[in-house]
Amino acid sequence: MKFPSKRLIFCGGSALITIAIAMSGNTPARRSVAFAQAQRQAGTALQMSEQAFKNIQVLKGIPVDEFMGTMGLFSAALSVCCGDCHTGAGTDHPQWEADPPRKITARKMVQMVNAINKDNFGGRQVVTCWTCHRGAQAPSSTPPLDAIYSTPVFAPPDLLPVANPATAGTPPADQILDKYVQALGGADRISRLTSYTAKGTSSLFGEVKADAVEISAKAPDQLATLVHQREGDLARTYDGRNAWVMLPLTVVGEYPLSASAREGAKLDAEMAFPGNIKKFFANWRVSYPTTLDGKDVYVVQGTDSNAANRLIIATFYFDKQTGLLTRMIHYANSAVGRVPTQIDYSDYRPVAGVMMPFKFTYGWVSGREEYTITEVQPNVQVDAAKFAKPVQRAR
Ligand code: HEC
Ligand code: HEC
Repeated sequence: MKFPSKRLIFCGGSALITIAIAMSGNTPARRSVAFAQAQRQAGTALQMSEQAFKNIQVLKGIPVDEFMGTMGLFSAALSVCCGDCHTGAGTDHPQWEADPPRKITARKMVQMVNAINKDNFGGRQVVTCWTCHRGAQAPSSTPPLDAIYSTPVFAPPDLLPVANPATAGTPPADQILDKYVQALGGADRISRLTSYTAKGTSSLFGEVKADAVEISAKAPDQLATLVHQREGDLARTYDGRNAWVMLPLTVVGEYPLSASAREGAKLDAEMAFPGNIKKFFANWRVSYPTTLDGKDVYVVQGTDSNAANRLIIATFYFDKQTGLLTRMIHYANSAVGRVPTQIDYSDYRPVAGVMMPFKFTYGWVSGREEYTITEVQPNVQVDAAKFAKPVQRAR
């Protein structure tokens, strides 16, 4: 039952198929009723967990995208597959709504964690499944001496400490962000790149097979990524207002992103034309420099509060030498902690005078995709439909 697979959620192909079959239990009638009752956000229907699913007791009142994020966090925190908590996942007859013992334990754990945070931390979400579990089903309770007398494994907090410039030698955030824009070709050239389409390939982490990719982008903040996977299309779109995710075979085929997850999609879209990145966050902080893949990097964090007054965070790693962005992590809030998305950028090449990463890795709780761009067409007409709610290809 241990989880050696590199695909975070879908441990092996069989789970993929199982999850798809689960969809058939969610009949069209059921779904349309749910949609009719659904709340509206930025013009898109948001379906709540208790409307979409059958047996929701502790994770009520959250949109489907956030709910799927909580399942991803559970799997990640304990290093398990969906099937370790759900009856029949990995078979032809999954019963997501059934309550096997481990799922019941998980439900109790959600209540325990909520109580810990409420009773001890003023309701701040500082304790999560990961705080104790760290990838184990039975959390370790005694510090292993080997771990103490060797190089410590350091997992930084989401909200990074601010470096003391005098001792850390860090420039102000403004300077690092300006250098980035300069390294890309300068604000002027970036502003003259108003759209592009790109082609390339994507392979899921742990798989050899590469799938065809189409990317469309339009300034200032529209982006669509379409991956033609064998089982169906994977898509992420942001049309300047609404964000969607579509997966080939999952419990919910496609769903809109809400709140901070949607902000994350907007950030991804703005990063296609990063000339105005400084304005994205109200606050910027510079943390301690570190190394990534042997290169020295500055670590800059953007933070902001959304309407519900929950902190939106993104962390940027800039190569000290080239000034270019090598990693971005943004976090979506959820009922059980922050759901991370990490993009690693490399192989920058000029397109219409603007440096663009021709390789990047998109890691999220539903998998890790490695992209290689092979051709880019700058300043082309892009059909608005590309950025709208994605539609699964016919089978
Ligand atoms: C550590 C245990 C655990 C893991 C791992 C887990 N879940 Fe869950 N899942 C739960 C719990 C607990 C609930 C019920 C939540 C509630 O009562 O509010 C649930 C509910 C669900 C539901 C709603 C079912 C219904 O109709 O009521 C779906 C769908 C679901 N999970 C899908 C998944 C998927 C997909 C994965 C793998 C990505 C996954 N879960 C991984 C514990 C888990
Ligand atoms: C304060 C520490 C702590 C936190 C936080 C915590 N757990 Fe646990 N969890 C434990 C301990 C300790 C055990 C083992 C209990 C035992 O051995 O009886 C456990 C056991 C479990 C098990 C049973 C595993 C098995 O082997 O069957 C599940 C499932 C689980 N936790 C899920 C979660 C989820 C989901 C969260 C977040 C919502 C969470 N836990 C948060 C401490 C924690």
